[in-house]
Amino acid sequence: MNLTSAFVNIDPDRCTGCGTCVLVCPSDIISLENRTAHAAPDTDMARCLQCGHCMAACPEKAIDIPALDPGLQDFSAFDPDPAWMPPGKGLPTRELARLICSRRSCRNYKETPVAKETLRDLIHLAVFAPSGTNSQAWTFTCLASRSDVLILGNAVKAFFKGLNRKAENFLLRKALALVGAKTLDHYYRNYYESVRTAIEQMENENRDRLFHGAPAVILIGSSPGASCPKEDALLAAGNILLAAHTMGLGTCLIGYVVAAMAADRSIQKKLGIPDSETIHAAVALGYPNETYQRITGRKRPVIRIF
Ligand SMILES: Cc1cc2nc3c(=O)[nH]c(=O)nc-3n(C[C@H](O)[C@H](O)[C@H](O)COP(=O)(O)O)c2cc1C
Repeated sequence: MNLTSAFVNIDPDRCTGCGTCVLVCPSDIISLENRTAHAAPDTDMARCLQCGHCMAACPEKAIDIPALDPGLQDFSAFDPDPAWMPPGKGLPTRELARLICSRRSCRNYKETPVAKETLRDLIHLAVFAPSGTNSQAWTFTCLASRSDVLILGNAVKAFFKGLNRKAENFLLRKALALVGAKTLDHYYRNYYESVRTAIEQMENENRDRLFHGAPAVILIGSSPGASCPKEDALLAAGNILLAAHTMGLGTCLIGYVVAAMAADRSIQKKLGIPDSETIHAAVALGYPNETYQRITGRKRPVIRIF
């Protein structure tokens, strides 16, 4: 039997047969034979998630997964600490809690651009989020200058102007509702007025009601093949929001962009994003022009302990 496969390389000279890799493998594709770890034959390796648990757990550094990119541990803004942090050790929960509770959606930005290296750092942290069946089929499209952000902003604004024109049509709304398509009527009742006001402010007062003046945007999408593309994108976005705060950046998720890009596929074409991809999250970011004095509360959630 091969010790290695196209997915997992096991160095038999280093392997001591301790079995740690067998314990942590989620797919049961590593076994011990003659006190040495063996990867399953390539025919079974389709089950390998390439998650790297075996490689991370091996005390002898005997395992390598060629698909994993060590370059993702390179950061421009800080020196990474490559040591794994065991649960309960390292970062005090108090500090993490303060970070989680201090992050706010930023709606006032300085004009200072965000360096491309900083955006890359954020993406390197985003991809350490979990993803369904470890598909990691996310894509990141950065708009790193205000003029690029405005290309997207104008396309989204044009989409909502068109939607508002349709929604103003009483007969169209009611006719669609009669045949069961109630989306336009729902939009009219819940969003039409605020979108109309926002468009007016954008056009007459030069206020950026979409991106709040942010000098950069990261669009997080998925390529075909992801089992949970939306969840993956939002978990990646969560990493970006928190990491950005530690780097002095403010962020805001912009749901209107996702809605417009889902309904009008020509917008992503304008940005050079392949038609096969779908955008699930838009993160506006930049250096904040606002400060807060305190952490506030949240609404009381429903908590059940069954
Ligand atoms: C999926 C999603 C979409 C959002 N879309 C927008 C948006 O289009 N514009 C905006 O200003 N804020 C948007 N937000 C930010 C929320 O309004 C914000 O998270 C919420 O008010 C709580 O405030 P906080 O993030 O400061 O804690 C969005 C948030 C989420 C999670």
